Amino acid sequence: MATNNHKSNRNTVKLGVFGFGCVGQGLHQVLNATRGINADIKKICIKDGRKKRSLPTALFTTDGDEILNDPEIDIVVELIDDSEAAYEIVKSALQKRKAVVSANKKMIAEKLPELYKLQQKYNTPLLYEASCCASIPIIRNLEEYYDNDLLNSVEGIFNGSTNYILSSVFNEGLTFEKALTQAQELGFTESDPVLDLEGFDPVYKTSIVILHTFGLFIPPEEIFHYGIQNLNAFDIEVARKRGATIKLISKCAKKDGKVYAYCLPKFVNGNSPLSKVDEEYNGIVLESCFAENQFFVGKGAGAQPTGSAVISDISALTYQYKYEYKKISQKNGYEPGNNINLKVYMRYRPYASIDLTRFRTITEKYSSSDGSYVIGTINLKDLWYYKQIDEADLNMVLLEEV
Ligand SMILES: NC(=O)c1ccc[n+]([C@@H]2O[C@H](COP(=O)([O-])OP(=O)(O)OC[C@H]3O[C@@H](n4cnc5c(N)ncnc54)[C@H](OP(=O)(O)O)[C@@H]3O)[C@@H](O)[C@H]2O)c1
Repeated sequence: MATNNHKSNRNTVKLGVFGFGCVGQGLHQVLNATRGINADIKKICIKDGRKKRSLPTALFTTDGDEILNDPEIDIVVELIDDSEAAYEIVKSALQKRKAVVSANKKMIAEKLPELYKLQQKYNTPLLYEASCCASIPIIRNLEEYYDNDLLNSVEGIFNGSTNYILSSVFNEGLTFEKALTQAQELGFTESDPVLDLEGFDPVYKTSIVILHTFGLFIPPEEIFHYGIQNLNAFDIEVARKRGATIKLISKCAKKDGKVYAYCLPKFVNGNSPLSKVDEEYNGIVLESCFAENQFFVGKGAGAQPTGSAVISDISALTYQYKYEYKKISQKNGYEPGNNINLKVYMRYRPYASIDLTRFRTITEKYSSSDGSYVIGTINLKDLWYYKQIDEADLNMVLLEEV
């Protein structure tokens, strides 16, 4: 676990931070209030040098090399909202043997194999706890606690902003638009809200979680995902009549040596612990072979909850922690495979006819001037067909795996 390359034996760790938006400012606030960690921000690189900042101007730069080439800076903290620029920063920092902390789930998920190799090649750690479910310590738990246990599945609410929107709609009767505006005002959404609404954000996290659970690199574009962008009043009424709420659920699991994964809206009833996870909270249910279920809950977005996960990684670096990617070296022989049947609700334009031949069975069919839907069993692989139709009047919600 030890790494010799970053200079953690100094009294005060010097941080070079990229980004001073929601999370960057959260990091600054949490760092100021944390007595147990001996770290100082030496420089902050931002994009727009003309913006007014809450800290002295001398602390800021628009030239990233001032951080990357500063031999006094031990740890680079990458908190920007541009995944391509973020990768260049992280790569360069690792090449210069500076330990890195990042919260950028898009960049990490899209570049996991490269980031893994860079860490090995330069023997320098990259930690990214804040990238998955913000304040919930899931990655370090998967790496450390679950090393010897055989995990069957990880399922949960991985996206704080859509959960905030869904719980405002279901619990407070807000319109979808009003709930989205509130989530944006509170800093819970990504700069581009499509990443949240269409389920990209949770699928990035799922890709990262798969690596730390099953040791597989499954790129985000290979994981089926469908967001809440097409949810309407009709779907909400259907959920209410079923005594359920709708949550955007991400899951990865193993079955017969294969690992499948998806991210889908799901009807969740009161029996599931996830039904009580509201607002910007995230929840994760881990199912293990011998310990049954364990449930983690915590804030999944926002300045200070995310900032506190970043601080935890900085602190871990001061005692030479690094991910060992133990599941990769365990060589358990898992392969990706999406041969799993799901019971799905599919709503489409009233009285329209859609090709339902991909459904294996249909158990319920409804048609009215407000909406038409079927409920039936379909293979996960066949759901891609309906996603690609991309009709604004189509929506799908998972009921259960069958
Ligand atoms: N917000 C959350 O709750 C949350 C939770 C978990 C993870 N994250 C992740 O944390 C990261 C930051 O999110 P955020 O919400 O803090 O974003 P944000 O509020 O939009 O702030 C982005 C910051 O990045 C800076 N920036 C953008 N491009 C840059 C570049 N090329 N070089 C230097 N600085 C650059 C911006 O500079 P200017 O100030 O000059 O515009 C701004 O300060 C993202 O990867 C996000 O996915 C966010």
